[in-house]
Amino acid sequence: MINIALLGYGTVGSGFYEILKNNKNKIENIVKEKIKLKHILIKDLNKKRENLEDKSILTDDFNKILMDPEVDIVVELIGGEQAAYQYITNSLKKNKIVITANKLLIAKHYNQLLALAENNDTHIYFEGSVGGGIPIIKAIREHLAGDNIQEIDAILNGTTNYILSIMEEKTISMKETIQKAQEMGYAEQDPEEDLEGYDVLYKICILANLAFDISVNPEDIPCKGIKGITSYDLIYASELGYKIKLIASIKNINNKINIGVRPNLVEKEEYLASIDGVFNGIEVYSRYSQKLSFDGMGAGKYPSANAVISDLIEAAKTIKENKTKMDLNPLEKTTTFDLHAY
Ligand code: HSE
Repeated sequence: MINIALLGYGTVGSGFYEILKNNKNKIENIVKEKIKLKHILIKDLNKKRENLEDKSILTDDFNKILMDPEVDIVVELIGGEQAAYQYITNSLKKNKIVITANKLLIAKHYNQLLALAENNDTHIYFEGSVGGGIPIIKAIREHLAGDNIQEIDAILNGTTNYILSIMEEKTISMKETIQKAQEMGYAEQDPEEDLEGYDVLYKICILANLAFDISVNPEDIPCKGIKGITSYDLIYASELGYKIKLIASIKNINNKINIGVRPNLVEKEEYLASIDGVFNGIEVYSRYSQKLSFDGMGAGKYPSANAVISDLIEAAKTIKENKTKMDLNPLEKTTTFDLHAY
């Protein structure tokens, strides 16, 4: 049995719960082990949660999760910085596998969190932190691991891409479209994160860390969001053959890595110009694969939750493999036990 604790039951957290419930048998067949959601950490125990079948797994006490030796995997979906940082670092120190979609934390503490996981003989997974439903982390970490990435150009924020698309189509104000994006569950609780480009900044820093194995501090990267862009800007750009898109890019120019986030004029014939609405689009240029393009829902409950589920499957497979190795090698078990006994 593999036991999971879920931290947070907001948009992505409840999506994760639903996918796990609906596809439990399928996932267990892939992992070849039973999976149990043992705890859900929430703030308010009295809040109504219609979809939740077993309310007894709810807790508002993180220590209950941390001190439960049966919990193998902690899935952090509360977002934000301070509390999430404490939950993640303490879970790693207790050798639990952590899965998170928290782009801010991964971007700001990338090296530290990865080292903490490694030093505690565990793992941290973060597919849900970039690109919503697009498996870009796995593509870079696995598929392109033996290649040399030279450049990434991307639309990484569903909310602002949605806002720009709607403003161009309907000539309405940014304020009205933000409200719509919030109602649809795309925008961050604080829409400034999206509008000022910070959400994209965190995501591109994560990709830069992964693709170029460098240590990037988000505060050092130039970042400009979409505030101030009007429907007229979009219409004039269109008349001249361009779309305005919030573009994040990383370029390796003679081994110097340039990273930036800003609104760009993109020729209508280009791939990224065709990415409209809440979609994200990512172009990766590399030495051997040459050019790869990815697009898909960049935000929203189920696409992001599915990215977290994909991490869950990978984490559960790792646990299962380790358990099998230990069962096949009882000597190792005995040796470990004897060492501890002394
Ligand atoms: N606010 C983010 C976006 C959510 O709109 O892309 C997904 O990271």
